[in-house]
Amino acid sequence: MHKIDMDLIEMTLDVMKYSIGRISATEHPIGKPKKEEELKALVGETITSKGIGGEYAFNLWKDHLAKANVPVDHPRNLAFVPASPTKAAIMFDLVTSASSIHGAYWMEGAGGIFCENEAMKWMVSLTGLPKGAFGVFTSGGTAANLSAIVTAREHWRENAEFLGEKGLIITSIGAHSSIKAMAKVADVDILLVDSEEKLTGEDLMHTIKKLTTHQRKRLFAVVATGGTTNAGIIDDLEGVAQVCEQEQLWFHVDAAYGGGALVADSVRHLFNGIEKADSITIDPHKWMFSPYDCGAVIYKEPELAKNAHSQQGSYLDIFKDEGAHGFNPTDYQIQLTRRVRGLPLWFSLATHGTDRYKEAVERGIELAQIAGRLIEAHPQLELVRDPSLSCVLYRRIGWEPEDYTHWTYENHRKGFALVTPTKWKNGDTFETVSRFCFINPDTTQRDIEMILDTMV
Ligand SMILES: Cc1ncc(COP(=O)(O)O)c(C=O)c1O
Repeated sequence: MHKIDMDLIEMTLDVMKYSIGRISATEHPIGKPKKEEELKALVGETITSKGIGGEYAFNLWKDHLAKANVPVDHPRNLAFVPASPTKAAIMFDLVTSASSIHGAYWMEGAGGIFCENEAMKWMVSLTGLPKGAFGVFTSGGTAANLSAIVTAREHWRENAEFLGEKGLIITSIGAHSSIKAMAKVADVDILLVDSEEKLTGEDLMHTIKKLTTHQRKRLFAVVATGGTTNAGIIDDLEGVAQVCEQEQLWFHVDAAYGGGALVADSVRHLFNGIEKADSITIDPHKWMFSPYDCGAVIYKEPELAKNAHSQQGSYLDIFKDEGAHGFNPTDYQIQLTRRVRGLPLWFSLATHGTDRYKEAVERGIELAQIAGRLIEAHPQLELVRDPSLSCVLYRRIGWEPEDYTHWTYENHRKGFALVTPTKWKNGDTFETVSRFCFINPDTTQRDIEMILDTMV
């Protein structure tokens, strides 16, 4: 398996040909999932004692399995937070794999970690955090949020008064589901401010004032969102920062989706206050055009993260020795062995320069504005709220929830588009509405028009 022979050379060429085709294609079909039984019937047994051979397995991939995926970079894939990795970043993802770098410690991965850190310096500069702030790349926003909250909790528990207390954090219902998931993993309670609109300093103060004495004692952090996933709303970061400072609470900003927009002059002011955060999550695999998976967590005081996350073990001592000294990314998040997953971002930034990132993000914001105007001009459609960042929520007048579901399936079945419904809180009820999230700068006005035309 590890020998170099003709088969390997042919396989290398096949893989390169496939990758070049994928990277350079201008139109990709939107794939369609099949049931597991259907896929099994198409490909048969693939894991056998003697192997089925690389060529055969690769053909199964190309003919059947690849087609059961929906590429996130399709210009009419506007569901979830889609992605649109640059070609340079995708190519360097291949280089990252081929280079077999262990990205935990500088001693083994200095070259790769150096590149990651160059990209990280740019990301930190976008936040406006003070000198000394720094971060590391993680497997995604969930891991970044978890790393930040564990850091906050450990820092809080340095005070003996809080040892043995179960921590409590406050966020709003607009926060991403990963905040709740992460609170479960960290075994902290979570209190949700019941508004999907902007969380303000006043809302937060109001909530804190209603806590019992014991709850107040257990409260150690607040999570604000820098671009909610559902609607692109940026919380009142300035107001929340002030309350956190006054109440001595850790201030975390989850900008996993919206963080890419820190580069965009048109909306940068909406993030004012982020420079006061104790920690920030930004996912380069969302709006910084990196391939999966690449998140990042940034700390105002990285030493606090090191206290929380640095792993000890006799076989690890050498990596921390004076002679091995350099920056060790593993010390600042929950994972030990790690891919140098910031490397594709570095290569893409180095190739294109940061101005091109600004233009590509601004285009996503512009597409949301264009969609908003098209919806307003359409007699059967209505905006639920003004577009925010690159998210647009809109309703088809007269549609019931099942109409949205049917419409989504229909467009998906035809291989035309993936646009999914969501829910928006309207008073005490949740209304099913349609949602666009733009990331891919190659999405066109025509794409949006064609999608809206299928709603009549
Ligand atoms: C605001 C926000 N936070 C966290 C996450 C979770 O990130 P990941 O899926 O990379 O773990 C997402 C994902 O969409 C998000 O939008």
